[in-house]
Amino acid sequence: MDSRGAGRCEIDVSDRLIVALDFSRSGEARSFVDTLGSSVGFYKIGLELFMAGGYFELLEWLVARGKKVFVDLKFFDVPETVKGAVRGLRNRGVTFATVHGNQAILEAAGKEKGDVKILAVTALTSLDRGDLDDLGFQCDIERLVLSRARRALEAGCDGIISSGLEAPMIRYELGGKILVVTPGIRPVDNTSIDDQKRTVDVAQAFVNGADYIVVGRPIRNAPDPKKAAISIQNTISTFWTRQ
Ligand code: C5P
Repeated sequence: MDSRGAGRCEIDVSDRLIVALDFSRSGEARSFVDTLGSSVGFYKIGLELFMAGGYFELLEWLVARGKKVFVDLKFFDVPETVKGAVRGLRNRGVTFATVHGNQAILEAAGKEKGDVKILAVTALTSLDRGDLDDLGFQCDIERLVLSRARRALEAGCDGIISSGLEAPMIRYELGGKILVVTPGIRPVDNTSIDDQKRTVDVAQAFVNGADYIVVGRPIRNAPDPKKAAISIQNTISTFWTRQ
């Protein structure tokens, strides 16, 4: 199903690529941002950088350069603690933050979000059917992701993180009401390359219903990261200007 359509076209085309800054040192992340220059305007900063120290200084550095920031710390705790954590992200120029968990946790985040858009984690793109069996989830992945997406919306969240494989069903069921952010982007079948198992390529992610894609290693590990980012931006721009 091609899910381009009403409600999904209001995002700047160049913002649809979010580059994951998965580095163990803040300085490496900064020089990577400098390398990519104007080819990328939206960055995700996650757990690895959080543990590196200087997380909020990096956030401010990115915001000062006009970059959008996605805080991917996947908050998962009792609702009061999640409330406090989300409150701490307000008025800092943060665009997205991720939250994990049940209805009460999502509601806590939805209530405190202020100017931050909350994305609920559905099922990690590094998990496949066997991994979900291990975790005790009997239902199929699509059903699990859809139920989490519905609950996230009810709880006042703005969107979800979903693999490109489940995105078509989310769009079909929920239309343009929900933001869909898709990691696990790979140029080819990925079974033997790294930990991502439920992957799609750049164009397919948008055909399937993504609003944004998150890309880490395919850009970071490319021989010329800036060239790789520009090539992805060109694919995105071709997709969104064709309609
Ligand atoms: O390197 P790669 O392109 O796999 O990076 C994907 C990024 O998206 C990582 O930073 C990872 O933490 C994040 N992510 C994910 N799956 C989710 C949520 C976030 O891969 N469900």
